[in-house]
Amino acid sequence: MEKEQEGFINWDFREADTKQFTHGIHTYPAMMIPQIARRLIYLYGKDAKTLLDPFMGSGTSLVEASLTNQIKEAYGFDLNPLAFLISKVKTTPLNIENLDKELSNIIKSKNYKELPKFKNIEFWFKPKVIEQLAIIKTAINKINDKGIKDFFLVCFSETVRNVSNTRNGEFKLYRMSDKDLIKHNPYVISEFERIALKNMKGMKEYVKARQKTKTIPQNYSSMEELPLSPESIDLIVTSPPYGDSKTTVAYGQFSRLALQWLDYEDVASLDNRLLGGKASKELEIKINSSTLKEIIKRIAEIDGKRAKEVLSFYEDFDKCVIQLDRVMTKNGFVCFVVGNRTVKGINIPTDKIMTEMFKARGNYKYMTTHLRAIPNKRMPSLNSPSNKAGEKVTTMCNEFIFVLQKI
Ligand SMILES: C[S@@+](CC[C@H](N)C(=O)[O-])C[C@H]1O[C@@H](n2cnc3c(N)ncnc32)[C@H](O)[C@@H]1O
Repeated sequence: MEKEQEGFINWDFREADTKQFTHGIHTYPAMMIPQIARRLIYLYGKDAKTLLDPFMGSGTSLVEASLTNQIKEAYGFDLNPLAFLISKVKTTPLNIENLDKELSNIIKSKNYKELPKFKNIEFWFKPKVIEQLAIIKTAINKINDKGIKDFFLVCFSETVRNVSNTRNGEFKLYRMSDKDLIKHNPYVISEFERIALKNMKGMKEYVKARQKTKTIPQNYSSMEELPLSPESIDLIVTSPPYGDSKTTVAYGQFSRLALQWLDYEDVASLDNRLLGGKASKELEIKINSSTLKEIIKRIAEIDGKRAKEVLSFYEDFDKCVIQLDRVMTKNGFVCFVVGNRTVKGINIPTDKIMTEMFKARGNYKYMTTHLRAIPNKRMPSLNSPSNKAGEKVTTMCNEFIFVLQKI
């Protein structure tokens, strides 16, 4: 680990292996680079016994916390049930021989109990693919050990994505072109086996390196009263959403097909329930952030509806800040990895607004902002801030890692 010379350290991690341990077992939108969580824990968690990630996504911070000696408890919350499942599996050490045995049972299976019947299933999957997925699912559901069953459900979820008729490598749901669809005849069972073997390799590495940290991921909204005691958290390491899911990163859409296959309900409404899911009715700003007020005013001059959408995200975020302030210990550090998006041509300084919001709700000292150039495609570097098809503006090429200390 490099010397603690903040400001001189490079945060880009261009050559870093981001799939070590269990980090690579399932794709997830806007994943945090493990090396960032690792370094934040190293720099700001020297005295930390407890860590929280209120927007844990696929659980990167929790995995990293569980690889340290000093962090005793690591809590994570996410409203997306798929994020919860992935985080749970990534932080639960499992016996590889048992996994091996169950995998060969799954691969040998030939029958399914019933075919799933969710809306548009034939649009997203070819009939043969549906049958093979149903065989795998039936076999996984026979596994008694919950940890092992969840492990294979995560492998199954990744398989669902890869064998579906969706366009490769995109987080939003778009169907392949008719031309590509003709050529699309995936070997479902071999794809599942490939993913399972790769994940077992990651699990093997994780089991060796994992420490005794208790990891507690929960399927829960950070806007609600958190099931944590006041002043119980020494360190927050998180990358929150930067705006509502519909116009930034569609976590719900990304997870929909897998969740439908896994029999979750209320899947279609997930994006509406995440931060900023419902537009504000009014443009009255009660949040004490001068930067937010200025930005909303400028967007409203161009488009009142978009201004309300942006405001609603920050109103929801404010509910989280109240909770986070309640659970943070004095002298504890709050580390947020954020991107600054552009709406209607106006750049929104998310890091500055969030810093002001924390200061408005509690006593926080601003420590520093580390800048990170985004070198790969984990983040959408292009989006359509006007929501018009084809209109693309470059956004979020830098990540801002801001650090506050509760005083
Ligand atoms: C940028 S992602 C986190 C990625 C994560 N750091 C990782 O490495 O995978 C933001 C997460 O916030 C979650 N989220 C949005 N609204 C939420 C809420 N109200 N409560 C908890 N989580 C929420 C989304 O589901 C998404 O998983």
